[in-house]
Amino acid sequence: MAKTYDVELHSIRKTFGSNVVVDNFDLQIEQGECISFLGPSGCGKTTTLNMIAGFLDPDQGELIIKGKRMNGVAANKRDLGMVFQTYSLFPHMTVANNVAYGLKLRKVPKAEIQSRVRRVLELVKLPHVADRYPKQLSGGQRQRIAIARALVTEPSLLLLDEPLSNLDAKLREELRDELKRLHQETGVTTIFVTHDQEEALYLSDRIVVLDHGKVEQIGTPWDIYNEPASEFVHTFIGKSNRMQGKVTGIQGTRLALSAGDAGGAFELQASPRGSSFAAGQRVSIYIRPEKLMLAPDGESASGSRYACAQGRVRQLSFLGAFVECEVAVGSESLTVRVQSAAQQGRLETGQAVTVCWNPDDVFVFPGKER
Ligand SMILES: Nc1ncnc2c1ncn2[C@@H]1O[C@H](COP(=O)(O)OP(=O)(O)O)[C@@H](O)[C@H]1O
Ligand SMILES: [Mg+2]
Repeated sequence: MAKTYDVELHSIRKTFGSNVVVDNFDLQIEQGECISFLGPSGCGKTTTLNMIAGFLDPDQGELIIKGKRMNGVAANKRDLGMVFQTYSLFPHMTVANNVAYGLKLRKVPKAEIQSRVRRVLELVKLPHVADRYPKQLSGGQRQRIAIARALVTEPSLLLLDEPLSNLDAKLREELRDELKRLHQETGVTTIFVTHDQEEALYLSDRIVVLDHGKVEQIGTPWDIYNEPASEFVHTFIGKSNRMQGKVTGIQGTRLALSAGDAGGAFELQASPRGSSFAAGQRVSIYIRPEKLMLAPDGESASGSRYACAQGRVRQLSFLGAFVECEVAVGSESLTVRVQSAAQQGRLETGQAVTVCWNPDDVFVFPGKER
């Protein structure tokens, strides 16, 4: 039997004037999934969410929710809950009345409204603020009430548009945990829009990475981080060292590369997945700071599967759990992330070191014309 999905986007396209804001967007969301739309500001996340919500209609393509075609169907006929970036509570209503609003519109009996409001306030751990007004709440509390209000109607789909962006770092993390717990407890199919890669990695079953209205990749957080489909995806998610280079040799899946300027070039090996390369081709070479290892000069992981290069420590930055070391290797400067506990007192500025890496951890993308 064919698989059924909660939400299906088929070749969705949206333009504003001559500006193509969403192009050829294809996605199938399974029941109970938490999906993130991740990408830089202006890439079309909100526009796509608004088409799913029914605030905008696609120019082309088909939108299907729970097997029913939704193009042209009004937002209030779509059985969904929505939370926005800015707190959208009614200021003149108490928290309880704010949360009850959607149920009153649906003409749910009074006694049932009361018990459902109580239950959902307990779910977001704020039963004690029921009689307060929004202005008497903190930013984090207001956003939890907005989430409660979206959940109280027990929608088949929960849409969240950057709900954590207006909160400070600590609150953002707290509410992120809260959202994860709520998703686990309610099992509601969720679309979470964010420009914050860490939020997307933390919360999602799958991430849709968008750039300029185009889907760059759809995958699990692990896939997106470890198997990026493009240079954009790799650089948007996580930190990475970038080097300009050239392919100097090819042996099976293993590339020999020369990185850096002619004066300070150094050799390295990589086993990139995906694209094929030609000898002499200019490439961008990336390796993540946590994939580089340091050994005292002279020592190296020789004879193993690791590749190595000689370098010198330029700068050390203590960041608590780890230390970030800037290491000069040829004409390049590489950031190496090492565990504080393992490196305590062992590294000094100016010290000669050997930098080692697994060639499988090097990413190579076709070079851009500069
Ligand atoms: N109503 C509109 N009229 C014209 N252009 C719009 C409108 N809404 C959004 N845009 C443009 O569409 C692009 C995508 O916007 P948006 O979906 O809000 O991006 P994101 O949510 O990813 O930051 C931006 O270039 C934005 O300026
Ligand atoms: Mg937006």
